[in-house]
Amino acid sequence: MDEHGVAVIGCGGMGMNHVAAAAQSKRTRLVTTVDLNSGTAEQAAKTYGAAKALTDYREALEDPSVGVVVVATPPSTHREIAEQALRRGKHVLCEKPLACTLDDALALCRTAVETDCKLRVGYILRHNRTYQTVADMIHGGAIGAPMVMRMLGGELAINEEQWKRDLGLIVETSPAIDCGCHYVDLMRWFSGEEVVSVCGVGARTEFDIPHDNFNYEVIGVALSKGSCGLYEVGWSRTYRNFSEKEFLGPKGRIRITYSHDRLSEGEKGDLIEHFDLNKRKLLSFDVPGVLKPVTTELEELLDCIETDGDIVAGLNDALQSLAIVLVGHEAIQQGATLPVPRVVL
Ligand SMILES: NC(=O)c1ccc[n+]([C@@H]2O[C@H](COP(=O)([O-])OP(=O)(O)OC[C@H]3O[C@@H](n4cnc5c(N)ncnc54)[C@H](O)[C@@H]3O)[C@@H](O)[C@H]2O)c1
Repeated sequence: MDEHGVAVIGCGGMGMNHVAAAAQSKRTRLVTTVDLNSGTAEQAAKTYGAAKALTDYREALEDPSVGVVVVATPPSTHREIAEQALRRGKHVLCEKPLACTLDDALALCRTAVETDCKLRVGYILRHNRTYQTVADMIHGGAIGAPMVMRMLGGELAINEEQWKRDLGLIVETSPAIDCGCHYVDLMRWFSGEEVVSVCGVGARTEFDIPHDNFNYEVIGVALSKGSCGLYEVGWSRTYRNFSEKEFLGPKGRIRITYSHDRLSEGEKGDLIEHFDLNKRKLLSFDVPGVLKPVTTELEELLDCIETDGDIVAGLNDALQSLAIVLVGHEAIQQGATLPVPRVVL
């Protein structure tokens, strides 16, 4: 099989991970880096050896040597760029969240089905070894059916440049949407249940947050078989919270602590702790995982292209998690508990 030519559109914080993955995989060739900022596109091309650096993504889509397009631009641009790519016969890896509205996300997914090109969405935690390990444990009955799922996350901008980028995403979506889509996706994956309703609260802990949005949000989630979940996300320039994730069931509990939050032995990787309620025993072990395994994500898209794999199940998961977080954010605005619709392609 020939190498797949890749164009990465959007070479910011996340895009650079994709640029590196496309340059390093044995199955791909990094053809083009694209960014509205010419210096950013050129720097990415120079660092990772792309033949071209462009500012207009449409030029990259006209290139017949590009077979795969990675879209790592802000969410409001995903639909337009990814649709144009699909309509030119390119396969697409699009960053989450798929779009800012459910209508745009649905239209984009329908374009993929119509054009018979592959579209996959960047739910990176599905490729993360730590979460895969916990999924296997839960599905294997380690804690019984999950009753409570708690996920605390948050990011500290290390400088004003990063804060400006965070603020850009907050203006378009919100932390509960942008990061939250990962967390509700995990809840559905781990429990096999659907989210039926959501409620929440939000706060503006920085002076420059738009008055109709939040940089800190907590969402409560009710699932279809009576279990519940909670996630907390905050983006800030002043403080950082611990990224703890905990899953409780009738037979025990599992807790994940990220390597960078471990007070000692962080170099061993993420820590998984499993308390077995019947045996009254705590088992703990390290998973030397990579937080953002974009290479695996890219390889799975290539497998899907080469084997003409199914994309509909993954797109339905992406659509449903987007629906949950959009309603969650709306629930905060309204101060109400709102039902979540089922969204199916
Ligand atoms: N999966 C993850 O873990 C993860 C983590 C961070 C961000 N993301 C997602 O990745 C996407 C990008 O986020 P980011 O943090 O990298 O943002 P960013 O602001 O750092 O980068 C976005 C880049 O896209 C460029 N851009 C904007 N519009 C463009 C256009 N029309 N054509 C070409 N370039 C354009 C900008 O100049 C910028 O360099 C978002 O959807 C975000 O939610 C995912």
